Amino acid sequence: MNPVKKEKKPSKRKKRPEQTRKIGRVSILTGGGDCPGLNAVIRGFVRASTNIYGWKVFGIKDGFDGLLNNKFVELSEADVGGLQLRGGTILGTSNRGNPLHYPIKKGGIIVFKDVTSSIIKNIKKKKLDVVVAVGGDGTMKITQSLREKGINVIGVPKTIDNDLGVTDVTFGYNSAVACATDALDKLHTTAESHHRVLVLEVMGRDCGWIALEAGIAGGADVILIPEIPFNLDVVCKHIHKRKLAGKKFSIVIVSEGAYPEGGDKVYVKPPGPDGTPGRLGGLANWVSERISYSTGLETRVAVLGHLQRGGTPTTFDRILATRFGVEAANLIAEGKFGKMVCLKGREIKSADIKEAIKELKHVDPNGQTVKTAEALGVSMGRPD
Ligand code: F6P
Repeated sequence: MNPVKKEKKPSKRKKRPEQTRKIGRVSILTGGGDCPGLNAVIRGFVRASTNIYGWKVFGIKDGFDGLLNNKFVELSEADVGGLQLRGGTILGTSNRGNPLHYPIKKGGIIVFKDVTSSIIKNIKKKKLDVVVAVGGDGTMKITQSLREKGINVIGVPKTIDNDLGVTDVTFGYNSAVACATDALDKLHTTAESHHRVLVLEVMGRDCGWIALEAGIAGGADVILIPEIPFNLDVVCKHIHKRKLAGKKFSIVIVSEGAYPEGGDKVYVKPPGPDGTPGRLGGLANWVSERISYSTGLETRVAVLGHLQRGGTPTTFDRILATRFGVEAANLIAEGKFGKMVCLKGREIKSADIKEAIKELKHVDPNGQTVKTAEALGVSMGRPD
């Protein structure tokens, strides 16, 4: 007789975590401007939803437009294979057509209407238990309004601008900073060869995170951000001083939303009278012409534009986006609707969406990162 008790074989069935309510059909959309990492979130969410919880997952196409016009696609585990490295979003997105302020042609003119009731009808018709919205502050505002109308929602924060509150960082931002830093490295060599001032314009809307961090990483001599209205004399004197010290080239990085003291932001298309947001752009040219006039140095401009939003996410963004996607599924299982996943230190946590949209997360003009730049001898366009 064998005295050793036979060990029980572990069951091959995956144990599902406790769910607080019955969920069967979940959905995900990507809203607003795209950024690297959106597909990694989709992959993380679909895999966790199907592998761990056994839910049916529906992708909603083209952001909220897909909810308005019933554009759904069922997503299986296999459909999201290898997506962690693909830029863009397989679901499509849109940063126009806000359902809270939706443009409708009436008698030859455009009028704006809140169309969220049609969206809610479609969510119910499709029997979706939850909508996961991956987006920036615009998307989160719409998501919160759906929450207030009784829809189960979860938010996932994305944007290259890194301007969303509550989370330490949004995914997409790290990839954009890497892109801008790479551009600065390249501009450095040509600026040096030709003894020129090279002005690089980066995105970021009303927040200067990309310019500030890429500026530090890429060794810019001047960094202009929206949080510190700049003084052009200070900028030109700084460049002139470098010239006198034998440094015949300079690198300037400007955030598209920066503006001179007492002046205005520069737009390609100004904000509309109906509240439609404007398109920033053109500051680098404005700054470059004035530097050239004032210092006598030859200047050139590079505008990075949508390169910052395209292509493969960095390793950091892939991991963050994947963790966000998986956590979105966990929050659904716990019934924590109205929450947005976020990064706090090294931990993935969650917070109320309404907290995240209270105010934009600006660069602190007197914070550590700005002080670090100034300690290096970088001009932030303000007097010493
Ligand atoms: O919010 C992301 C962002 O890339 C901003 O940095 C930029 O101002 C804006 O979107 C550009 O939007 P669009 O894709 O409409 O040109």
